[in-house]
Amino acid sequence: MKARTETLRKYVRMAPVIPVVTIEDARTSIDLAHTLVRAGLAVVEVTLRTPAALDAIAAIAKAVPEAIVAAGTVLTESQIAEVADAGAKFIVTPGTPPKLAERLSAAPIPVMPGCATVTEAMALAEAGFEILKFFPASASGGAAWLRSVQGPLPALSFCPTGGIDQASAPAYLSLANVPCVGGTWVAPAELLRKGDFDRIGELAAAAAALRRPT
Ligand code: 3PG
Repeated sequence: MKARTETLRKYVRMAPVIPVVTIEDARTSIDLAHTLVRAGLAVVEVTLRTPAALDAIAAIAKAVPEAIVAAGTVLTESQIAEVADAGAKFIVTPGTPPKLAERLSAAPIPVMPGCATVTEAMALAEAGFEILKFFPASASGGAAWLRSVQGPLPALSFCPTGGIDQASAPAYLSLANVPCVGGTWVAPAELLRKGDFDRIGELAAAAAALRRPT
C-alpha cells in the first residue's frame, strides 16, 4: 500500500487539474491525450460510463506513454482487474462502500477512493488510503469542507471533483490538503464529440496554468 500511495502522490502533484473525461469513441482518446499532455496536463481520468471506456484507457496507455491514464467511476470489484489489465495507472471511485474498499486495498495499482463525509474519509484512512477523491465536492461542502477537515484529518489529502470549473478551482488549490482538483470542464463531452481539440487545448492550457500560491 505504501509504495502505491507514493506513486499516487507523485501523480496528483503532476498538474493542478485532472480532466475527467467520458469517451464515446475510443479513437478520439489518443488525440485527446496528446492535446492534454502538450498543454501541461499529464493525468487524465477516463470514466467507465461508456462502452468505449476500456478501449480508450488501453489506447492511451499504449500510444501516449507520457500520459498517466486513470480509470474513473469504478463501482464494482470486477472492474478493478479489468482496468488494471487495460493499462490504467490508477483507479478512482466516486464513493467507496466498505466491501469495495477492502478489495481496492489489494488492487494491483494505486487507488484514489471517493468520499463525501468525515466518517467516510476516516474509514478510508483506516483502510490505509491517504489520498482521497472528495466527491461531489461543491455539493458536499466545497472548499469550506476541505478547510474544516485539515485540523482533524491532517494526514489526508483530497482531489475535490464535482461542480468545479476554471473560476472555482483556485479556492480549492489554495488549500494545503488539496494537491489538485478534477473536473469535466477541460474536455467536455460536447467538444470531444465535435473533435474540437483546439478548444480543448486552450481550456487545458488555462487549467495547467492554475497553480496554488506557495
Ligand atoms: C466525476 O465523476 O468526477 C464528475 O462527473 C465530475 O463532473 P463535473 O466536473 O462536471 O462536476
